[in-house]
Order: sequence, then C-alpha cells, then structure tokens
Amino acid sequence: MYGSSLKKLFVGATYLQHAVEKLRALFEGASKVEFVVGSADRIPYPDDEFEVVVINSVLLALPSRRDIESSLAELVRVCRPGGTVFVGELPFRSELGRGIWVHQARKLWEFGVGTWLRNAYHLYLRPALRREPLLLYPARNLHVPEEEFEVMCRRLGVGVECRRHQELRRASTTRNDYVLKLKGKRGAVSSSQ
Ligand SMILES: C[S@@+](CC[C@H](N)C(=O)[O-])C[C@H]1O[C@@H](n2cnc3c(N)ncnc32)[C@H](O)[C@@H]1O
Repeated sequence: MYGSSLKKLFVGATYLQHAVEKLRALFEGASKVEFVVGSADRIPYPDDEFEVVVINSVLLALPSRRDIESSLAELVRVCRPGGTVFVGELPFRSELGRGIWVHQARKLWEFGVGTWLRNAYHLYLRPALRREPLLLYPARNLHVPEEEFEVMCRRLGVGVECRRHQELRRASTTRNDYVLKLKGKRGAVSSSQ
C-alpha cells in the first residue's frame, strides 16, 4: 500500500514488522521515503494526507466484506479531496472455487510462463530457501462483484471513475482494478454520517 503527496514522495505501509524492517534497510538513505507498520483499516496518517493512495492485491486477503469496507473507508480518509485512490486486483468472481490447480492453470495462462515462474520463485522458493515467512493466500479469497463494490463506494460518498480488468498478458477473468476520484469527498462523507 502506498500514498504520495508533495511532502512525501512515497510511503509504504504493511502490517508486518519484519517486512517494514527489510524495506527500511533496502531504502536506507533515501529521502522522502517512509515505511511504517499499519494495516489497511488502520493507516497511521492524518485525514487528507495524500494525493494518491494505492492498494494492490491486499483487499482480497482480508477476512470479511466488513473488513474490505472499513479498509476502503480508511483509504478514502487519508486521501485528500480531489485525490485518487487506486484499488488493484479485487476479484469479482471466485478464483479458488474450483481448486488451487485450476487457479494456478489460469494464472499461468494470464501471466505467461516466464512471469508465472518468476512469481513462484520470488513468492515461494526464495523465501523458503532463506527461511523467511511465506506469503500464503487464505483458503478462499474474498470476491466482491463490481456492483457490490460500487455500492460500498457510494456508501462512502465516492464514485468509481474508472474500472478496468488487469492488463496482464491476457485480461484477467476474475479480477478488476478500480480508480476512485475523490471529487466530492468532504460533503459526501459528512452527509452520510
Ligand atoms: C498478494 S500480496 C500483495 C503485495 C503487494 N501489495 C503487491 O502488489 O505485490 C498481499 C499483501 O497484503 C498484505 N496484507 C494482508 N492483510 C493486510 C492488512 N490488513 N493490511 C495491510 N496489508 C495486508 C500482506 O502482508 C501481503 O503483503
């Protein structure tokens, strides 16, 4: 997850302390870069802090729709009126319903062999060799149909300006990316409270 503003060029936040420490070491000495421990529904920055807020491939890993909606509210909270929230990779259909092998076959088809192998190496093989924690998907990742996502946004007083399927090697048959422009954030959010 990251946000950008004029003051801070780039801010990363993840809820895992070890990941944050690793990122801080990697970017040691870089100015305007900050990594903090937080979570999608608890971002340790004040309201309207960022011009652009990006969250990619995270909402699908949350335990419930309620968590997705509270995280979305938090992303909107830290983004200033007129800013942009990008929500990447939210499944609109079940990905794992037909089992892990069907899921992997589809990924292979979407990414192509090279990217699929690189992902497998970086996500599983290398961490396993280094005895680092593995990134494991929940048994069933949450999917939110487009209409439902739009209803969530409307409840927050935010419209979905652009919705697109991922531009992978082939368009994803399960996941969308969404761009939210926070035009009327202030009035809309306060009028729904
Ligand atoms: C599929 S990875 C995506 C990683 C990265 N955002 C990317 O685009 O490559 C899912 C990430 O979500 C993070 N995550 C899971 N639950 C989270 C939460 N409640 N708040 C913030 N991050 C969370 C995990 O630590 C993991 O790094």
